[in-house]
Amino acid sequence: MVSRVIPVDSFDLVIFGGTGDLARRKILPGLFRRFCAGQMPPEAQIVGAARTEMDDAGFRDMVRAAIDEFGGGAEDPGQLDSFLERVGYVAVDAKGDGGWKALKDRLRDDCVRAFYFSVGPALFGDLAERLRAFGLATETSRIVVEKPFGHDLESARALNRELAQYFDETQIYRIDHYLGKETVQNLMAVRFGNVLFEPLWNAQFVDHIQITVAETVGVGGRGGYYDDSGAMRDMVQNHLMQLLCLIAMEPPAQFEPDSVRDEKLKVIRALDPVEPHHIVRGQYGADEKQPGYRAHVENERSRTESFVALKAHVSNWRWAGTPFYLRTGKMLRARTSEIAVVFKDAPHSIFGAEAGRHNNVLAIRLQPNEGMTLDVTIKEPGPGGMRLVDVPLDMTFADALGPDGANVPDAYERLVMDVIRGNQTLFMRGDEVEAAWAWTDPMIDGWEARGDVPKPYDPGSSGPEDALMLLHRDGRRWRDIKA
Ligand code: BG6
Repeated sequence: MVSRVIPVDSFDLVIFGGTGDLARRKILPGLFRRFCAGQMPPEAQIVGAARTEMDDAGFRDMVRAAIDEFGGGAEDPGQLDSFLERVGYVAVDAKGDGGWKALKDRLRDDCVRAFYFSVGPALFGDLAERLRAFGLATETSRIVVEKPFGHDLESARALNRELAQYFDETQIYRIDHYLGKETVQNLMAVRFGNVLFEPLWNAQFVDHIQITVAETVGVGGRGGYYDDSGAMRDMVQNHLMQLLCLIAMEPPAQFEPDSVRDEKLKVIRALDPVEPHHIVRGQYGADEKQPGYRAHVENERSRTESFVALKAHVSNWRWAGTPFYLRTGKMLRARTSEIAVVFKDAPHSIFGAEAGRHNNVLAIRLQPNEGMTLDVTIKEPGPGGMRLVDVPLDMTFADALGPDGANVPDAYERLVMDVIRGNQTLFMRGDEVEAAWAWTDPMIDGWEARGDVPKPYDPGSSGPEDALMLLHRDGRRWRDIKA
């Protein structure tokens, strides 16, 4: 039996951008929950680092407030005090010399050292260089870099080259928080832990696959970043791509970093270029409650997409001819992320034409209500003719696994602990990120060159009409976006 909580080695974790949004919302509350779970050794140390002048006490107050606001999970209020004793702060200038010596003096020599770059990619190179120059980086130190990892292939390559001057690939942890989601890891468990699905997991039996990541929120306070990125760069190049890889990849020989990442890379490299008429971009409009996308990003002429749907093909033996439909967008009807594997009809119906067409669908819900359903065709009860209906075999994890199923840890909790453990399986390798950009860049270049304007859609809808047409033209339909 693999243990539930594996204590990690003693560590010093420095969070650059320690006062920022991601640190307050995700990283620090996640660390606190791991502390409460007993995973953190008593001497572990977390050091916030940012430009703002602040002392340890000031930072601890900020961390306390963040944990109160964004979920702590402490059963005993004393736990938070005890956690905060492990937290400190050093003001550091990422582009200058200030603070680096003080930061170095804080760190211990005999433990794991991890540096979390929770800052914009423009600072990645400066931080990496100074960690080396001021002697903070040891041979076993790790750096964690957040997305966006570049803006296109060229900038991602430049970033990879820059980081490689100071750190070995085995020391670089590129985060895609979707890989830390419990159900995303479950994709691998479902596929490779069961004998049931794998024989059917190919073009012979699968009609098509739908990957949907729908959000109800708009661009919020991130208008500047988002308007420069759009849904393709913000979601498809990374999160949806990772989902596609896990669904489409060949079984790796082991659940180990390079075995898994090699297989994912093969999928990305097997993706065909996407034809322009297989891409639909949308931008949400206004409704009576709030202004639309353009007002949110304060750019009345914006042509950036807040929604994208596309049809992709993985050209290899397993998947030749099976389309993968991807869609993601903001301000949609419900917050739901789901992968649906839609199987082909039975080759021959013994029940005649009036029984209709029925096919099995395996739907894997990533959020909310993590779980899986498998639509199975059965006889509708009652006398009369043989009427067939599809009913879901429903396995909502919260129901099936009791309290443990409902208690899904946040992605960051797992990922930060994996960094300390030195396990890169759930992190993106440099070549993987570059291959993903190499696939998305031509689509973006294409619509920019054509001057395409995204199609408007209503907030609370399923996206623009054209996205529905993308499947209708193929005689298929999207699954409903519902909570
Ligand atoms: C982030 C994107 O990476 O993922 C956001 O930048 C998006 O725009 C978010 O809202 C979605 O993450 P989750 O975990 O809420 O599905």
